Amino acid sequence: MIVAIDGPAGAGKSSIARQVAQELKFDFLDTGALYRAVTLATIRAQVDFDDTPALVQVAREVDLQWDGDTILLNGDDVSSEIRSPTVTDAIRYLADEPQIRRQLSAQQQRIAAGRNIVTEGRDQGAEVFPEAECKFFLTASPEERARRRVEQLKSEGRHMSFEQVLAAQNKRDLEDESRPVGRLRAADDAIVLNTDGMTPEEVLAWVLQRIREKMEKS
Ligand code: DC
Repeated sequence: MIVAIDGPAGAGKSSIARQVAQELKFDFLDTGALYRAVTLATIRAQVDFDDTPALVQVAREVDLQWDGDTILLNGDDVSSEIRSPTVTDAIRYLADEPQIRRQLSAQQQRIAAGRNIVTEGRDQGAEVFPEAECKFFLTASPEERARRRVEQLKSEGRHMSFEQVLAAQNKRDLEDESRPVGRLRAADDAIVLNTDGMTPEEVLAWVLQRIREKMEKS
């Protein structure tokens, strides 16, 4: 069984997806981590981001391993490094490239094959796993998402103003929504949930309830 959870940056889908997987004893796949790790590989290889063939080449040669929690790039655990702003700012050069998307989508399908899995990203329900039994699109207003992000950064001892976070988030939303292939969108058969005003616990309970209803019916 595949549970696909998509949505914009900061909607809280990553932690929800992880917890849903834990509750159901399913595997978990963070597809953003794959895009981030390939981006880090091109940064390490000092590839010019305008040199698309070189980006594609690095992406093709790279060895990515996901074990449900950590991501290995050519055997090196890069789970923290892929979260750096340098990587975040450069992802679009790779995520916009259809050849790289095809390759990462195929890898996501290989990881999911024959498993019960919760997969999380931007294009999971609409593009990569159109056959997924359960599809969710989690969203929240830009202001609510930015507020949550500021709080999260604060709890990690990092400080950014609300305005800075909102501006960076608006830029990413625009990039994610206008991508030629694999853009952020809800699948036609996705359950859309606006999480404004909901606590993470409420979102988790709501999503689990919908999945259990589906499981009972099938
Ligand atoms: O979920 P995240 O913030 O770690 O994702 C980082 C970027 O990776 C996101 O802005 C766009 C890209 N991405 C994508 O294009 N397709 C996915 N399935 C997941 C992420």
